[in-house]
Parts: sequence; C-alpha cells; structure tokens
Amino acid sequence: MSVEQQFQRRAEAVPKLGLGLSVDVYSPDLYELMSRFEGLVSRPAYLEIFRATTTALQSVRQYLAGVPLAYHGEGLWITQPDFSSAPFFENELDEVASQLDTLCSPWLNHECATKQMAGYTFGTYLPPLYTAESAELVACNISLVQARLDQRRRPGAAFGSLFLLEMPPLTYFMAGTISVPEYFRLVTERTPCGLVLDIGHLWTVYRYTAARRQSSLAQFVERFLDEFPIERVIEIHIAGLSVHEAGQRAAVQDGFPDWIDAHAAPIPVESWTILDQVLQHPRLRHLRGVALEVDTKPPGLIAEEFAEARGRVGPMVERLLGNETPAPTGIFVPLTGERRAHQAEVDQRRLEADYVRYARIASGQEPPDGPAWKAVTDDPSGLERYIHVYLPHEILHWGGEVIDMFSETCKGLKEQGLSLDDFVPWWFQRSRPADRPYDFFLLKIDRFVEFVAERAPALIGPARREAEALRQGYEEANAGGRNLMESYP
Ligand SMILES: [Fe+2]
Repeated sequence: MSVEQQFQRRAEAVPKLGLGLSVDVYSPDLYELMSRFEGLVSRPAYLEIFRATTTALQSVRQYLAGVPLAYHGEGLWITQPDFSSAPFFENELDEVASQLDTLCSPWLNHECATKQMAGYTFGTYLPPLYTAESAELVACNISLVQARLDQRRRPGAAFGSLFLLEMPPLTYFMAGTISVPEYFRLVTERTPCGLVLDIGHLWTVYRYTAARRQSSLAQFVERFLDEFPIERVIEIHIAGLSVHEAGQRAAVQDGFPDWIDAHAAPIPVESWTILDQVLQHPRLRHLRGVALEVDTKPPGLIAEEFAEARGRVGPMVERLLGNETPAPTGIFVPLTGERRAHQAEVDQRRLEADYVRYARIASGQEPPDGPAWKAVTDDPSGLERYIHVYLPHEILHWGGEVIDMFSETCKGLKEQGLSLDDFVPWWFQRSRPADRPYDFFLLKIDRFVEFVAERAPALIGPARREAEALRQGYEEANAGGRNLMESYP
C-alpha cells in the first residue's frame, strides 16, 4: 500500500470537528472562556489543548465533558538526530500517549521545530534545517512515534492518534537548501502523517525569506500552496502576529512590519486573507478542523474573533467538512519496517554536525557560512536581530524574569559590578546534552545558579536559597495547587 493510501485510511478515521480554539489549560481561563459561549449557537466545535500535567488535562476532560478535545504536543524534538537516543525518550513517548488517551484526542499535533539542539537549549522554537536529509530524518522519527501510538490505539480503533506535523514559524531567519513546501512534500512522501498549516507561520515564511521582494503576498501563497502537500492538511491554525516585545520600535523592511507569531495579539487582516485563499484550494480535501490559537489572549477578544471567524469562513469550513469521504476500513498498517528503510538513507553524523553548526550560528558563536546559510549571508539582518535582540530577551525575560526570580542575587551581582547581560553568552558558551525532559523554567534556575557559582562565588548562598524556593513553588503549582477541578465548578 502506498504512503498516500496509508494516509487516506488514517485520515478517514479522524472525526470532522469544525471551527474550534487552541488553548492552554491555564490561559485563557477556560471556565470564563466557555461561559462566554453558553447559550450561543456558534460555540467552538472543539478545543485543542497544549501539553500540561496529566492531572490538569484530566480536570479539563472532566470539566468539558461533551466537547471534543485535541492535543497539541511539545517536547518531542523530531527534527533532531539524537531524538530516539535521548535517555528519556521512552518516558516522553509514554507521557504523550497517556495524555492523548486522557483527552481522547484524534491527533497529536507537534511543531516541526525544536527548543533543544546539539546540547544547546533555547526558550522558543527553532525550525528545522530545510534540507532533504533533514526531511528524511523527520519522516523517520514521525514513523517511529506513529508506530508507538498505533501500539497504544484504543480498543476497537484501527489506528492510534494521527501524528500531525505543524509547519513552524520563522523568527527572522531560515537556513536550508530547499524550499519550505518542498521540505514538507519530502516528509509526506515518506511517512503517512497529517499536517497542520498555520496561517501566521506562513506569513513569516513570506516575510523572512526573499519571497517578499519577489512577489505579492497573494502570489507567494498561491505558489506555496501549489507546491505544499495541502492534501495532507488535517488542521489549520490562525493566530495573531505582532512586533516582538523586545523589538524596540517597530521596524519596517520592504514595506512589511517585523511581525512574528504572537498568540496574544489580534489576528491581522493579512492572516484572514491568507486563510480565505487556503480554504479555496482544490487540494484541501482532508480538513478536519480550523482552530484559532488563543492561549494568552483575553476571553473578550477571543469571543469577538471567534464570531468573526464564524462569519468569514464558517460556511466554507462546513462545506469542506461536508464533502463525504469513505468510512474507515479498519485495516491496520504497521510502520516499523518503513522506519528502518528510512534510517539507512540518513547520514546521521553529517546531520548531527549540521545541527551543531546551526545551534552555534543561531546563538552567535559562529558566523553563517555554506550553502544552507546562503540566504542569511546575503541578508544577515534577520539572524542578527535574532542573536542580539530576541535571544537575550528569551534568556533573561521570557518564561521567567531572571531579575525577579533571583532578586537578592541580582542585587548582589550589581553591587559587585557584574552585568546580568553576561548570563546570555555564558548560557551558550558550551553544549550540554540534555539529561532530562525539556523544562525551560527549571533549566533557567539550574543554569543561573551555575553562572553565579562561576562568576560570583560569594553569592552562591543566596542564589541556592532563591533557586530552592523557586523549584518548590513550581512543583506545588504543577501538583495540587493548580488542580483545575478546584477552580472549575
Ligand atoms: Fe500553530
């Protein structure tokens, strides 16, 4: 059976959901959010929930009985050559499988991106190297995950939850030798996964590649979709775009603002226009849901934008979902053999070296050079913005303000004439293989204590004390303190 036929069988088993929302368990407040839709005909048809603790997901499942839930995974770094050899790999897969079960999710959506690369850790997603070899590896890793999900399929189900690969955003730059749509074409030729097409991410591909100088946005989208395997798209995401908070004044280049993916920001008209264009594409034939990604957005604005979405694209989405596809056949297609065939084609060592270079270039320790970095050497402004503005913000402010987390220690550093800014180059000065599942907050705590031990040993006492209090507070918040059953009636 061809990869395409395998995908079709799997897609037929995924229910048609409609227009929904993608949220986090804690933000927005789900109780307040859902109460805004009470009594309305136009309620979200489903919620996609970002990874959280299993207890929190159980609470959401119980509270939202009757609402279809889907799962947005995190922490499966499928773009990385060491993905399946990481020491906690089995635990991560087990947790993902059990969270999918908890939510009864038809799919596992995961970004085609990573926050850990070659022993360097970042706070937000970095896209893959857009090369043919990297696409092979991603396909191989997806097959591996899908095989595990199939083993854990629910009683009576033909397949496990379907792996959906989301096209990631660009944050000012991109490295690779092939185009983004070509990359996803290669992945889908090798593994029967579904895809998530994120409209805002697509805008960033236009904005942060040479495409913005070569064609209009509409022409770019048209060409992109013609090359992209849009027939594999199961879900579409649409979210806000805005200038990054560390971006000082908004910079405009070639007539385009410096927007990046921003879920708290309003959805701009450009994104609605792209969405219209995508929904009209004749090869979009396996769509199961369109979600507004609204984590961190105020509930009032969410309700407004959801109503706008219903008005603009509701009938079109219903029409697309109404096009009947054949019923599931119940044939189970194992994937293990395919994975072995793929693995033989990937030059693991070379790809590992490519990702070491990627991590070092992205963190400013090595200059960009070579074919994969040609677009960046032609116009280095995006990479420079990433290294000098975005990355320091990520380490010092994003996911925990270091100056607030370690107020006493930071005061001491200042008195000694040491700059907190030195923490950024220190963070990236050497690679350290990950020894536990990704958690940026906990890592920030550990690294800061190490930094203080090295640069200001006299302050190690207060640093350790503050670190311990932070870890304890975090553990309590994750365990019982934020059990959602306590806050939802
Ligand atoms: Fe998304």
